[in-house]
Amino acid sequence: VTEPVYDVAHLGRVELLTPDLDASLGFFVSVLGMDEVERVEDSVYLRAWGDYERASLQLSAADHAGVGTIAWRTTSDAALERRVAAVESSGLGSGWTEGAVGHGRTFRFSDPDGHSMSIYYESEYHVPVGDEVPALKNQPQRMTTRGAAVRRLDHINVWCRDINLNSSYMVHTLGFRISEQVLDDDGRQLGSWLHVTPKSYDLAYGRVDPAGVGGRLHHVAYAVDAREYVMRAADVFLDAGVTIEAGPAKHAVQQTCFLYAFEPGGNRIEVITAGRLLLAPDWRPITWSLEERRKGQAWSTLMPESWFTYATPPVETMEEGGDT
Ligand SMILES: [Fe+2]
Repeated sequence: VTEPVYDVAHLGRVELLTPDLDASLGFFVSVLGMDEVERVEDSVYLRAWGDYERASLQLSAADHAGVGTIAWRTTSDAALERRVAAVESSGLGSGWTEGAVGHGRTFRFSDPDGHSMSIYYESEYHVPVGDEVPALKNQPQRMTTRGAAVRRLDHINVWCRDINLNSSYMVHTLGFRISEQVLDDDGRQLGSWLHVTPKSYDLAYGRVDPAGVGGRLHHVAYAVDAREYVMRAADVFLDAGVTIEAGPAKHAVQQTCFLYAFEPGGNRIEVITAGRLLLAPDWRPITWSLEERRKGQAWSTLMPESWFTYATPPVETMEEGGDT
């Protein structure tokens, strides 16, 4: 038994690529209810009202939808150094950068499947000014009521070609712990949910990519406080003409209440709530068989075909060489 590593604190920022930056920005601001923080070159940085850091989302103009860099905050500078050493010895490190928009020095690497990731420790907290100043000083800013008014970045779900390889990499190199997994009869992981926080998942390798492509995104999730707000988000999406893919409903794995929709750039976004906490330091991963998974979600819906086949960048886009 090896000692647990608590060097990674939480998911800090996700970079989403979009072929239509203006339309995507409109979605995140008007429909999800996030605030624009800063623009740097072809990127717009945004935050949800409950995010304590300056920005949790980087929207970047690109030829196609997809995920850019997934950034994790470490628990200290020493923790950052330890994880950099571990990543470097894995051979997947790609060096230090200065860090952008609120982040201090940042070390970049990738998981074995090719998802771009980074780790950083220094981070600027959001400082509310003017109308943003909350009544209670223990809140990063005044609560937003615009659109779905999502509260904070919650987790990311990516696809990869070999889940055992990738989730084991995150466990042994970064200190993630597996909370739940789907295994086939040969012990091959068909899904793996990992966490570094007391939440039961911060990262999921959701599916073995059926197209056999590396580095793809299934969805990014923002959290709200209650199931009622997930229902309200569905109403907001409906009125805004946003395509709802599935939900509101309840996941069997992890038991979160969910709603999936597509932002105008083509990336799948999830609004979730009611995740549970895992406080046990020696939690044994819950294992689901394929047969159990075939029963579907906890209640309310069967997932549409697209949920099992569509990830970004879409395969057609990649075959055409980046045009959408
Ligand atoms: Fe999710």
